[in-house]
Amino acid sequence: MIAIAVVDKDLAIGNQGGLLFRLPEDLKHYKQETLGRLIVMGRKTVEGLPGGRPLPGRTTVVISRSVPLPDIPEDAIICGGESVYKLFWDRTDYLIMTEVDAKAEEADAYFPEYRDGSFVCVKDSGPIEDNGYTYHIREYKRNA
Ligand SMILES: NC(=O)c1ccc[n+]([C@@H]2O[C@H](COP(=O)([O-])OP(=O)(O)OC[C@H]3O[C@@H](n4cnc5c(N)ncnc54)[C@H](OP(=O)(O)O)[C@@H]3O)[C@@H](O)[C@H]2O)c1
Repeated sequence: MIAIAVVDKDLAIGNQGGLLFRLPEDLKHYKQETLGRLIVMGRKTVEGLPGGRPLPGRTTVVISRSVPLPDIPEDAIICGGESVYKLFWDRTDYLIMTEVDAKAEEADAYFPEYRDGSFVCVKDSGPIEDNGYTYHIREYKRNA
């Protein structure tokens, strides 16, 4: 499975149900990566989307304890939040990470640790400037 996320320097991903940074260029990248794909999101992340509804143009599996956990195919893209990244972490072998060169002032949701040698970087966009922030989009493969 593939996980996609935007993280700060401490791997923070969210605060009080919302995202940490407004990155218009990165939203285009997110759309490009996810359009037409099967994506997996936690119930809280979906509620934080515009209109509280899944994104158009993608098939979204919403994870909630109120429905049985469906079978998720290996080519699905895991789109968070924290509890959903954790739930599928053992099956996640590829990461598409927007790594923002900043620390969020406040955060209450985090991405699992991947900078501990368990993943190797296979692609790096180089620095991207977007809405006053600098980030790299890096892709990682799980070490065998
Ligand atoms: N930076 C990024 O790339 C990024 C991406 C996505 C999300 N986020 C942020 O992450 C935060 C949300 O993360 P979160 O962890 O609080 O919420 P979440 O993962 O989006 O959703 C949590 C919900 O998922 C369901 N769930 C969790 N574990 C489950 C399990 N084992 N079995 C069945 N259902 C399960 C539960 O739904 P029920 O309560 O309905 O049972 C739970 O309340 C927000 O701040 C959001 O903006 C950031």
